[in-house]
Order: sequence, then C-alpha cells, then structure tokens
Amino acid sequence: MNFRATRRGFLQRAACMGLVSFLPLRAEENISGANSLRAYADARGLLIGCAVAPEKLRDEAQYAHTVAEQENLLVAENAMKWHAVHPAPDKYDFAPADSILAFADAHRQRVRGHNLCWHEGLPDWFQSIVTKNNARQILTEHIRAVAGHFAGKLHSWDVVNEALNLKDGRPDGLRKSPWLELAGPDYIDLAFHTAREADPRAQLAYNDYGIELDYPEDALKREKLLDMVRGMKKRNVPIDAVGIQSHLTAGVKAPGDGLREFVRKLHDMGLQVFITELDISDHKVQGTMAERDAAVAHLYGDYLRTMLAEPNVTAVLTWGITGKYTWLNHQNPRSDGQPQRCLPFDAEYKPTPAFFAVRNALTGASQHLL
Ligand code: XIL
Repeated sequence: MNFRATRRGFLQRAACMGLVSFLPLRAEENISGANSLRAYADARGLLIGCAVAPEKLRDEAQYAHTVAEQENLLVAENAMKWHAVHPAPDKYDFAPADSILAFADAHRQRVRGHNLCWHEGLPDWFQSIVTKNNARQILTEHIRAVAGHFAGKLHSWDVVNEALNLKDGRPDGLRKSPWLELAGPDYIDLAFHTAREADPRAQLAYNDYGIELDYPEDALKREKLLDMVRGMKKRNVPIDAVGIQSHLTAGVKAPGDGLREFVRKLHDMGLQVFITELDISDHKVQGTMAERDAAVAHLYGDYLRTMLAEPNVTAVLTWGITGKYTWLNHQNPRSDGQPQRCLPFDAEYKPTPAFFAVRNALTGASQHLL
C-alpha cells in the first residue's frame, strides 16, 4: 500500500470531518465553497442547477448536502407535473413541490417550474374527463391554479413541453398530442397567455429535445421551432426563453454548428436559452470506467464550452445530480448492469470527470448579469 496516498487520504477524511484544517487539498479535489459549481456560476452571473426529488432532499443527507453545496437553481424532476399536483379533477396537492421551494429558500437557490402543459405526465383522470368541449377550460384552470400557487417565487416555467414531433407529419411540426387534438393548435398561445397572467414575474419558456445535433431531423426540428416561436412573437404571445433539454449520448455524435446558429437566432429574437435537462448517457460506450468517464466528460466540456460562449445562454441544469438516481438507468440501461455515469456525481456521490468538465466550462463562460 502506498503510504503517502494512505496518509493523504486519512488526513483528507479528517479535514472533511473538521478534525484538521491545515491540509491543502489539490485544487481539483476540492469541490466545496469557492470550488463548487455554484460558486463558479455565481462569479459569472450564471445559473447552474439540477432536477431534484423532494423525498430525497428530505430523506437522504448526502443527496441534500450535494444539491445544496453545488447548485444555485433547482427544478422538480416530477413534482410539478400534472399527475403530481393535480391528482383529481377538483384536487391540487402542492406539498411536495412546496418543500422544494422551502429547501431552495434555505439554501439561497432559485427554482424553475416544469411543466404546465405536456402530452405525458398526465393524471389518470385526464382521459375520461377531458373532451373537445372542456379541454381549453381545463388547461386554463390548471395553469391558473398551478402558476398562481407559485406566483412571484419562480425563476421560470416550462410552459409547454415537447409540442413538436416531426414524425407526426404536420407541416407546422406540431405533435398530435391530446392537447392539440382536444384544444386545437393555438393551445400553445393559450398556455403562455394564461401563465403570464397567473405569474407575471416568471420567465416563460418553451422546452424541447431532439434539436441539439447536426442530424437532418434535428436541423428540421430547429427550423420548425424557430417558425413556431416567430409566429408567437408576431402574435404578441409572451415567451421569454427556449429550453434545450440536452439529453445527449457519449460516443455517438457531438453537437456541431447548427445548434450555435439556432441559439444566435433566438438571441436576435430577444430570447434567452436555458439548458434544461442535460445528461450524457454512457450506454453506448464500452470499456473501462475511466474510458466511459472520459467520453462523457469530453462531451460535457465540448457542449458547455460552445453553449456558454453565447450570452443568451443563462442557465444550465443537469437532469439529476447523481448516477444513483438518474432516469437513464431505466431509459438507457447499460447492458453490463452498471449504473450510468452520466452526471456530475456518481452513485457514491464522488465527483465524476464530468463534474470537472462542467466546472472548467463555467470558467470560460461569457459574463452574465442575473
Ligand atoms: C422524466 C423523469 O426523469 C422520470 O422520472 C419520469 O418517469 C418521466 O419523466 N423530458 C422531460 C422530463 O421533459 O420531464 C422527463 O422526465 C425526461 C424527458
């Protein structure tokens, strides 16, 4: 056993426990305080955050500690979706979502809302109750109740999520979602107007995926999204930002120039860009853990360096914080059964190389004023 390594390890553990305070940590090992992601983001007027689950903030000290230490922005992974806050037609339950706001308040963090209108995450009652006759009214009432409940407290809302699906074959690119079919294509305008009335202070975002890469289908979806947003601006629909989900895969294809151009076009339309759900799946990477980590970290670095050079990119959120709880363990499970290493922390809450790639990218970010 290497004596120096052992001694250093012992002293570092002691230092973490507050037993000794003199041991200088190597810069890349120290991730607390001034070395945390949030300190790096704060220094540049940026928001850095992650999706969280309220019960884990409550029940798991290490989870709560890591989220509090590293992030200045939170979003509910599921706790603000329709099924969570609107369990019966005449019943709302805000308790779990409220506990996220209380946590954020205690740790000087902002919170964003996700989401007010989506074709998934709907409660069981939706199908039997919602018809062409009442869909617009039910959508409006939900947004009034939910955005109204959190009014004045949120950084932003994903007002409409994933409304585009080119495979559905419509010229406007709109997804044939229950909302489109029951409420009509202007349900998007309706949702944004209602959200603005219910919470004039939250920034209102349209959020989508499949727009990140230089594949022809991603490029076409970016075009449809720009057309949609242009139309909204022309009709004076209140939209402030576009959320780019950014569920990426290591070892497949890196984002190219198309995304940068897209972000610049949004800038010219006066819109901010939030990277809302960043994670990098390693299910296609064979090899050792170090090789997986390197591929994931490389893409984090590339992606964020490109995005953060754009002055209208003002917030970055990862979809979770630890490989212990990522949705990708179900969505894209690894064939070797290992947990994904797709986030800034691994399943043991050790920072992954991706953590350091994110932190490095933050140093190169253009200066923002929050
Ligand atoms: C996912 C959650 O991570 C899962 O826990 C849940 O079972 C399904 O939804 N795009 C979105 C998110 O906008 O709301 C989704 O979150 C992931 C894809």
